[in-house]
Amino acid sequence: MQPKKIKIIIFDTTLRDGEQVPGCKLNEKEKILIAKNLELLGVDVIEAGFPISSPGDFQSVREISKHISNTIICGLTRAKKKDIEIAALALKDAKRPRIQTGIGTSESHIKQKFQSTEEKILDIAYESVKYAKKFVEDIEFYAEDAGRTENLFLAKVCEKVIQAGATVINLPDTTGYCLPEEYGKKIKFLIENVPNIDQVTLSTHCHDDLGLATANSIAGIKNGARQVEGTINGIGERAGNTPLEEIVMILKKKKELNFFTNINTKMLYTISKLVSQYTGMFVPQNKAIIGKNAFSHSSGIHQDGMIKNRGTYEIINPKEVGYKTSSLILTARSGRSALIYRYKKIGYVFTKYQIDTIYQIFLIYADKKKEISDENLKQIINSVRN
Ligand code: KIV
Ligand code: ZN
Repeated sequence: MQPKKIKIIIFDTTLRDGEQVPGCKLNEKEKILIAKNLELLGVDVIEAGFPISSPGDFQSVREISKHISNTIICGLTRAKKKDIEIAALALKDAKRPRIQTGIGTSESHIKQKFQSTEEKILDIAYESVKYAKKFVEDIEFYAEDAGRTENLFLAKVCEKVIQAGATVINLPDTTGYCLPEEYGKKIKFLIENVPNIDQVTLSTHCHDDLGLATANSIAGIKNGARQVEGTINGIGERAGNTPLEEIVMILKKKKELNFFTNINTKMLYTISKLVSQYTGMFVPQNKAIIGKNAFSHSSGIHQDGMIKNRGTYEIINPKEVGYKTSSLILTARSGRSALIYRYKKIGYVFTKYQIDTIYQIFLIYADKKKEISDENLKQIINSVRN
């Protein structure tokens, strides 16, 4: 019998970690619209902002809390009483509020950033969760720079914040420094060495400084994390956060992993466009899942395979992510099969002899242009006829 599939909680931080990016300011109306779309998409948690950071952010978290009914709304804080009080106030009208509080736990954060000691950090972590618990039940604790935190100390931090009442522990690879094996082992170590670990959900939060955010998040899930944090289009501090569209499609496609999410994948393309348009952060054409070229085929060999069977070169049906269709782009690298296929689509059928002649003219056109349009195809026919 097939084992029961395990649910992975999708935590979206587009409006907090994503919006932190220079130049990608969103106004309140845009944030509410994105939040509504995230709820429709099926994310489980929306991190709506960092309420103490500015009056605007406070107001946005407050408004989003009023407009969203089913999804958990989370507000970020530092491990400071004032931050927690302000976040609690901003979340006052949320149906399902969560406060995310935390502190840096790596040696460099403790010694250089805080000029403190492990003992003091343990106390601050414990006290911040205890304090946040006075306002809301659902408390996520983040051990900032967990990726570079020594595992034994991280285990002590986890044990302590669970005693204080944390419901979720977030283990950010803040600097995107870990290798997937390392990050996976870290999660496994905590599961095996923290006595009260069964009382919390472990969460991944991986940055992409070495291009490993997705791989690290998947390693985390495979080793026991049950919540994954990320953003639409992977926007976020520096090189960005984990692109949620990638995580969701990996879990959907790799059935053998035995995980599922609540995401309506057919909305991924639309929400990606919405976030890109509002934030002004354009999506690279070759971006996995939602880039313009993700379902475009241009070399003759690939196009021939695609015409015979889509599965030869596509592991995702574009419709699954809400993209209308795959396309065969006609360039100087295309072959006769793609040319015949594209002509057929606009209503022309040719004999083999005719196509041989047309193909030679097509190549002359294609060498001059990046891409041959339907209009160009008609011009080619006209030039043959004249
Ligand atoms: O990357 C990080 O460590 C964070 C935390 C504040 C959650 O964004
Ligand atoms: Zn982050």
